[in-house]
Amino acid sequence: MKPKLSKVVQEQIQTPSPIRQIMKMAERSNIINMGLDPDDVISFGGGWVNHQAPELLRQKYLDICNDKERFHKTGAYSATLGDQRYRELLAEMETRLFGMKNIGPDNIIVGNSSTQLTYDMFLACAEPGEDVALLDPTYANYYGQMVFGLTDSGIVYDPGGPDRLKIRAEVAYLKVLDTENWTYMPDVDKTLADMEELFNLRRPRLMIVPSPDNPTSQIASQKFIEGAYEICEKYGSYLVIDFAYKTQYFGQYPEYYSWSPNDYPNMVSIHSNSKWARSLGRRGGWMEANPEIIDGMERVQQCSILCPDTMHQMAVVDYLEEALFDGSLASYLDKARQDYEKAAGVTLAAIDRHIGMPRLEPQGGLYTVVDIGRDGDEFVHDVLKNTGVLFIPGKGFGSTLKNAVRVSYGPMVHNLDKINEGMERAGSYL
Ligand SMILES: Cc1ncc(COP(=O)(O)O)c(C=O)c1O
Repeated sequence: MKPKLSKVVQEQIQTPSPIRQIMKMAERSNIINMGLDPDDVISFGGGWVNHQAPELLRQKYLDICNDKERFHKTGAYSATLGDQRYRELLAEMETRLFGMKNIGPDNIIVGNSSTQLTYDMFLACAEPGEDVALLDPTYANYYGQMVFGLTDSGIVYDPGGPDRLKIRAEVAYLKVLDTENWTYMPDVDKTLADMEELFNLRRPRLMIVPSPDNPTSQIASQKFIEGAYEICEKYGSYLVIDFAYKTQYFGQYPEYYSWSPNDYPNMVSIHSNSKWARSLGRRGGWMEANPEIIDGMERVQQCSILCPDTMHQMAVVDYLEEALFDGSLASYLDKARQDYEKAAGVTLAAIDRHIGMPRLEPQGGLYTVVDIGRDGDEFVHDVLKNTGVLFIPGKGFGSTLKNAVRVSYGPMVHNLDKINEGMERAGSYL
């Protein structure tokens, strides 16, 4: 008999991520099939940064590779929690960059990426079948992670039964975009009242808030996080802040950036090297939480990855030992912030000039979302076919973005003319 794939995988294969689908559509062979020149395509699709990694970090990799003994060490397993010195330095980084006090290595687990840590977090912090609260719109990957992490195929689903057990968690969506006026959380008291209602009704085990957010590039306000934390405390839920873009704020960062997990035990924060150090392919991330959660995560991580990558940990430790204390990390981050803020400004000006539709002003990160007033999928296919300009349909991020697209300026941070050219091309066709 032919063995079968798991039920959840069979089902999820039928519903692939809409972002992946569109990126597939933009692959070279498909572009050629559309009669377009792939070299002429301008993509606002990529969710990645394109500034240089710190030169000193590159040097540290070289030094390791040039030293036979140390290179040999990169081939050893590290502790499941990650290297002790690395965890100390990450705590120090929070103190020096964000003024966080009362944080130490016991609050930190190092993983291979924030993607893996988020997935493991579902296993460590929630039960199969328990609901999860997500913002609408929000980062598209959480949904699949939740489905895989919180589906229990051992439980029989009885939709009609009085004590029905769910095989799968569901999302309790908190709407944060006002689609009438294209504003993000215009009335925080109202959003918090909606959240309270949602928690009262659905009792989600956790809520994830990315800040700065993907796809809107908004930073959750201090008032919202304070209110959300109180609600999570009241219902015994976790407030998970996805800080994948933490260092990429424009202007002033909010106070909760310095909240320690020892003072806020219901808070979990997830961090990544992908964006700040342009290390998307050199996989690395970490989680900050109270020691009890870190212990739970260690147990999960023993089974998911055994230990994080040793080579990247060694290189980042060597880098931070210098750059954190001589101020070069802070100036490197300042420069990156300025460059992305400039790219965001160019993008907004180009949208206003050539597209002329409502958009959000980024407060950090790599993106904005534009209300295009018609179905986003159709719009993206139409514009790509006719102009060779690629946007990402909004629907994959939530129902509020059905008639919208996500625009990423990250890949073009040092190619601002392309941003203008792309918007001009799309605008003149429209
Ligand atoms: C909000 C958010 N979280 C997490 C990730 C994934 O980060 P990592 O590379 O650490 O897996 C992304 C990637 O785009 C993201 O936008």
